[in-house]
Amino acid sequence: MPTTTSDSFFIATPIFYVNDVPHIGHAYTEVAADALSRWMRNSGIDTWFLTGTDEHGQKIMRTALANGVEPKEWADRLVEQAWKPLLTTLNLANDDFIRTTEERHESAVQKFLTLLHDKGFIYQGEYEGFYCVGCEEYKTPADLAEGTDEFEGQKVCQIHGRPIEVLKEENYFFKMSDFQEQLLELYRERPDFIQPASVKNEIVAFVNRGLEDLSISRSNIDWGIELPFDTTHVTYVWFEALLNYITATGWGSNEEEFARRWPAVQLVGKDIARFHAVIWPAMLMAAGLEPPKNVFAHGWLLVGGEKMSKSKLTGIAPSDITDVFGADAFRYYFLRAITFGSDGSFSWEDLSARYEAELANGLGNLASRVIAMLHRYRGGVIPDPSAGTGAAEEALRSVMTDAVTKANEAMHSFAIHEALAQIWRIVEDTNGYLTEQEPWALAKDDANADRLDAVLYQAADALRVLALVLHPFMPNSMSALWGALGQEGEPSDQVLLDAAVAGGLKTGTTVLELPPLFPRIEQD
Ligand code: ME8
Ligand code: MG
Repeated sequence: MPTTTSDSFFIATPIFYVNDVPHIGHAYTEVAADALSRWMRNSGIDTWFLTGTDEHGQKIMRTALANGVEPKEWADRLVEQAWKPLLTTLNLANDDFIRTTEERHESAVQKFLTLLHDKGFIYQGEYEGFYCVGCEEYKTPADLAEGTDEFEGQKVCQIHGRPIEVLKEENYFFKMSDFQEQLLELYRERPDFIQPASVKNEIVAFVNRGLEDLSISRSNIDWGIELPFDTTHVTYVWFEALLNYITATGWGSNEEEFARRWPAVQLVGKDIARFHAVIWPAMLMAAGLEPPKNVFAHGWLLVGGEKMSKSKLTGIAPSDITDVFGADAFRYYFLRAITFGSDGSFSWEDLSARYEAELANGLGNLASRVIAMLHRYRGGVIPDPSAGTGAAEEALRSVMTDAVTKANEAMHSFAIHEALAQIWRIVEDTNGYLTEQEPWALAKDDANADRLDAVLYQAADALRVLALVLHPFMPNSMSALWGALGQEGEPSDQVLLDAAVAGGLKTGTTVLELPPLFPRIEQD
């Protein structure tokens, strides 16, 4: 059963902290969201892809001060020099980019706070407990570990391994405990609301243990959005950051736009699934709004067996990879090699091996060979296959049809790796088909002219379908292939499933030259 309905598709990534520059973990979420949204958009679905940056809170304030600048100046610098350039590095087709320091966000957050305050879901109380600035999260004793080395004898955050802070202050609280039953009912009624199942089970168990109210304000810092009903407090950074998904899509300012977009598919890393699957729907319920469509939590990129992170010095910049292999190979590699929803290890060796085998030798070589044979044997014109078509062509056509159908189903259920595996059946079977049919042998005898026409047509038509269905994953190279096949415009000008049918290539089309799609990389 497809998880998404056909009328509209709104997908959002987390908004990323600007305390540091992006690494390939952030890039992974971005390319997954981009491929999903391009697939839906190309399928004729009213699609919206939102990403952005999370700029308030203590972590960013401290980083800015440590660098001797005001927080806003720091955020501007990181957004302009690192986070927005990432969109180009990865070739993302996002529809919007929200920054939490924008007026549209701040004013809608204040509206939301006023609404919940008026409804009686916000009250004043005293918070006493632990806080991890690295996580920007309140911690319970169960979340803590004993420090080691320089932090020996202190309580530390299990994730960051650094000492937590003890807070005791007057705060405002959100009555999250009121929503425990409603949340459990949501998880029961919509079994695919949280995916994958491993994350869902953990969240259900967590909520079953009971929910506490959530402290949503801080009075000891001023880098944040003031509470409209008490300007001596700023909003807890997570509480306002979660709201970006609706402040960016018109809530409180453009109700028509909001109705068109909401609810969203929330694509997140599993580190922040709880915020998105518990706190966020509870906030929406309190406001009388619909919960998200889905919360999908992907796994972690591991480097040397550990979650990759800047603080542990295992961070790899996305451009380290794209500078060598290109954006398309980056996108393909992470989406193909890692089961979406599970952890996956990154290594340069694996990346190089897949680039070589699957992109350069598999797809790239197939495209070069077919285009070259069309020039060599048929003057660069797509021949008429009707007289020579037989069982081998029928078999390949049915693989194409089946693979496209299954790839589409996979994309609608967030199985991005499976969609690529399905599509790769077309690459492999077309290569196998050429090996069996031996067009280079057929070309030696004019008596085989009809067969050669059929084989060249069939292989070229398979390439055309590949250009269409792979375009969401590898937009640059698939545009080049599309153009070389004599097709006008871009693959994305077509309605994906209408155009990606076998036999759509027009006889008489003139093909052009195709530079290598995935050039050999010099190994050092
Ligand atoms: O949490 N593997 O921002 P953040 C896979 N601002 N994905 C990874 C990853 C890794 N090793 N490291 C990071 C925040 N990510 C908040 C979010 S949303 C309202 C606020 C990705 O900069 C993954 O998507 O710490 C993860 O959830 C996100 O980056 C965390 O980014
Ligand atoms: Mg983080």
